Amino acid sequence: MAEGVKDGWYQREFAFARRPTFLRVDLDVLLNNLKILKGQLSAHTEIIAVVKANAYGHGGPRVARFLERHGVSHFAVATALEGEELRTAGVHGNIQVFGNASVEEIGTMYENRLIPTIADVDFLSAWLAHWRKRERNTLGVENGPDMVGCVVIKVDSGMSRNGCQPEKLPEIVDFCDNYRVPVHSIMTHFAQSWDDPVFTQQQMDTFMAAVKPYRTRGVKLHVANSGAIVNKVGTDLDFVRPGISMYGQAPDTSEFGVNTSQKLGLRPVISWYAKASMVNRLQPERVVGYDKTYKCNTTETIAVIPVGYADGFLRSYDKLSVQTLDGTQCPLVGRVSMDAITVRLPEEASNARVFQLMTPDYTNVNSAVAMARHERTIPYEVCTNLDKRVPRLYFLDGAVRNDV
Ligand SMILES: Cc1ncc(COP(=O)(O)O)c(C=O)c1O
Repeated sequence: MAEGVKDGWYQREFAFARRPTFLRVDLDVLLNNLKILKGQLSAHTEIIAVVKANAYGHGGPRVARFLERHGVSHFAVATALEGEELRTAGVHGNIQVFGNASVEEIGTMYENRLIPTIADVDFLSAWLAHWRKRERNTLGVENGPDMVGCVVIKVDSGMSRNGCQPEKLPEIVDFCDNYRVPVHSIMTHFAQSWDDPVFTQQQMDTFMAAVKPYRTRGVKLHVANSGAIVNKVGTDLDFVRPGISMYGQAPDTSEFGVNTSQKLGLRPVISWYAKASMVNRLQPERVVGYDKTYKCNTTETIAVIPVGYADGFLRSYDKLSVQTLDGTQCPLVGRVSMDAITVRLPEEASNARVFQLMTPDYTNVNSAVAMARHERTIPYEVCTNLDKRVPRLYFLDGAVRNDV
């Protein structure tokens, strides 16, 4: 039986969730993963917790608030609106907005004191102008102090996506110097840090050469995502930016990704539970679900579970099974619809009413990694597909905690 499962089949937890399904987020596992990742770092290196995309499906505001209470003071999101959500939830620390900063987001970034990621002087000029205008309006004087919010400068060291080309860096730094725009740090991002050490090192060399003139004057640097942290690349710089490994998911579906995560002692933070809303005994020849894709062979016990693709249980998961709390596999039958799935209960599990749709491990057929394998995708996508309408329950020491 899964750890922490008590008699009563999670009835209390379903009541808390106010829906017969919930995602269990184990905060002690999150902290333990973070501790393992910190063990890879130099003593002075700080964490920027990547909590974009609703903290990879784990619930951005709750995860960030919890981490902040446990000493993390830097966060990263992908959009200004995600940053605003964290501020509204009471996150006080630095919040960087990844991606090439866009002018549409300047107002939200200003209001919420978010840190844009700079790739060119055009955005920087617009940022400066916005701050000057707003600060002067606020102070009511024409020549108020030139306070400007700090920025992170991103260098493209070979991934060809976000960031300035290395030769453009001096122009951006000069602009910041001339107009007194504080530089929080300079960063780059790796294309394949888990399993291409040669390309990663090339990116690292390109980046370190570009930032060399500024390193000596104390500008802070960061490069490492989870793969780089695991492989100890850039783990002695000022910050690292863990995402997927902090949530304990493997980066991809390869044996290598799974084994490396397991060997380090990382564990998935999230698991998914649901309760049948109805169980029917159906006669032979009865069809199940949209398009009548399943027909009962014999008299079968079919449970309806009120979770569908709108919750993040994708339509293409229709060949998967879910499992009872003691591990009996119950195959899906019929289509996954928007709000429901149907599963066939084997004789020995005909009394089962509570099911695990996602298990917190790497090996089970219901683990996020197995779901990703089935879908030919990666655990990142499986987790970020988990819709906000599925209640998240936050557990510490096996019990739901509303105060963390
Ligand atoms: C710039 C940047 N840094 C760090 C991360 C975290 O990466 P990972 O989840 O692989 O640790 C991401 C995620 O995509 C990112 O875009």
